[in-house]
Amino acid sequence: MLDQLTDIQKTGNVCEFSSLGQDVKELLKASVKAQELAYTPYSKFNVGAALRCDDGTVYTGCNVENASYGLGICAERTAIVKAVSEGKQKYNAIAVSASFHDDLFVTPCGACRQVISEFSVDRDIVIYLTKPALKKVFVTSVKQLLPLSFSSLHINNHT
Ligand code: THU
Repeated sequence: MLDQLTDIQKTGNVCEFSSLGQDVKELLKASVKAQELAYTPYSKFNVGAALRCDDGTVYTGCNVENASYGLGICAERTAIVKAVSEGKQKYNAIAVSASFHDDLFVTPCGACRQVISEFSVDRDIVIYLTKPALKKVFVTSVKQLLPLSFSSLHINNHT
């Protein structure tokens, strides 16, 4: 677990919630609200996400589990699926909230990193990780968390 402290330093910055701009604060608060709606009868591990589109709209998501465990969906992907299905495909930031201890943060799983990176071919997407208390925020990005990701560029330019 302590390894994460070194990884955090390598992949982003931890800052105080109070030092962030109003729009980021709102995004983080939306992720905390979404966390409260998580459907997690199996893991009891609640996660909330809030995705900011280029037009300023925010789509929230929570994890939704299932008795058939593999069918559960993470909060980040719920938010992205909601946004795409409402016609939004350009995102500049996603905030994720989950409870965790000390100075450590819950980080998006590999599948979610890949799905976020699907929409970052022409840009980077900022990722804010926080906890319900909204004290500290780990600021990173999808390109920092998933360098050299497989993307449409590979499919469209293969030899
Ligand atoms: N989970 C998320 O929703 N997002 C993450 O970034 C990590 C994991 C969910 C999936 C599952 O419902 C629960 O957390 C435990 O793995």
